[in-house]
Amino acid sequence: MFAPGGGPGAPHCPVLLQETMQYLAPERGGLFVDATLGLGGHAAGILEASSETHVIGIDRDREALFLASERLVSYGARFRAVHANHREIGRVLEEAGEHRASGVLADLGVSSWQLDTAERGFSFRHDAPLDMRMDRDDKNETVAALLARLPEEEIARIIYEYGEERRSRRIARWIVERRKQGKPVTGTRDLAELVARAIGGKRTDRIHPATRTFQALRIAVNEELIELAAFIETAIDLLQPSGRLVMISFHSLEDRIVKRTLRRLAGQCVCETRVPVCVCGARRVVEILTRRPIVPGTAEADENPRARSAKLRACLKLNTRRTMEGTDPSSDFAVSLH
Ligand SMILES: C[S@@+](CC[C@H](N)C(=O)[O-])C[C@H]1O[C@@H](n2cnc3c(N)ncnc32)[C@H](O)[C@@H]1O
Ligand SMILES: [Zn+2]
Repeated sequence: MFAPGGGPGAPHCPVLLQETMQYLAPERGGLFVDATLGLGGHAAGILEASSETHVIGIDRDREALFLASERLVSYGARFRAVHANHREIGRVLEEAGEHRASGVLADLGVSSWQLDTAERGFSFRHDAPLDMRMDRDDKNETVAALLARLPEEEIARIIYEYGEERRSRRIARWIVERRKQGKPVTGTRDLAELVARAIGGKRTDRIHPATRTFQALRIAVNEELIELAAFIETAIDLLQPSGRLVMISFHSLEDRIVKRTLRRLAGQCVCETRVPVCVCGARRVVEILTRRPIVPGTAEADENPRARSAKLRACLKLNTRRTMEGTDPSSDFAVSLH
């Protein structure tokens, strides 16, 4: 039987595995959706928890889906893999003939396997074409194509907003300058060196000067932050009462969206204080289970550098009382199951 996080073809332990199982509670049985299947490490943990547990694993990366399906083959019909963007979770469940889930997990971002696979172009540790698409279907644009097409101000905006890089304008100027010379940036090392030359960086810096730029371009090309809040809302709608949602994020932009959305769905107004009337759509449909985000302990952080920035947040769907018109999930009648 496949051991979660170990065994052949499983070089990386899933991040916060034990904590994920604690909050997702898959031993309850039922249907669980792993919305970011990756190589199936968390999914295996869920399937191992009970023989009454089923998993639908979603990933937009066909290669990852293939590898995960191979690894989880021994679970037979208890595991199904679907190629989709997780924002299509509603359609995925409908097409699978399912209505409600006991739990949903999203372990966001890229996998270690994607980062370590040179030709995917996610990392400047390997020289490869600037690709960075999680879904390599032809219709999707690569980072190289994006940099060849976008105006300078737009490149600067992406690097500033998604990379939180103060010197974004200078980097964008250098990228566009190369385009004008008829030598556009098309490789990972080329881009990393260009950024390092454009903004410098001290030898003592903990991270490579191009790290923020790479993160920003990856987020942009995969539209990682777009519809994340909508995904969370849909996932919660699909949970059965007392079902659980677990979200693991890896950078502050993602975590901010997760935190804000969960608060709003726990009934807390997240409007700017200046607004006189609440417009954020706060409604009480969940109870937040993690007052503060759960982060890896020192042992996990030492063993798996990628886990260091992980933050886990979880919530429980509340039972909602029936009104005269039927179930009103937006009512104040939501009651906790505890
Ligand atoms: C951090 S990895 C998940 C690793 C997994 N939990 C495991 O144990 O192996 C994230 C995975 O989610 C996928 N992914 C990221 N965003 C996605 C999205 N919007 N829709 C579907 N899959 C997505 C990536 O392709 C990647 O394989
Ligand atoms: Zn509000």
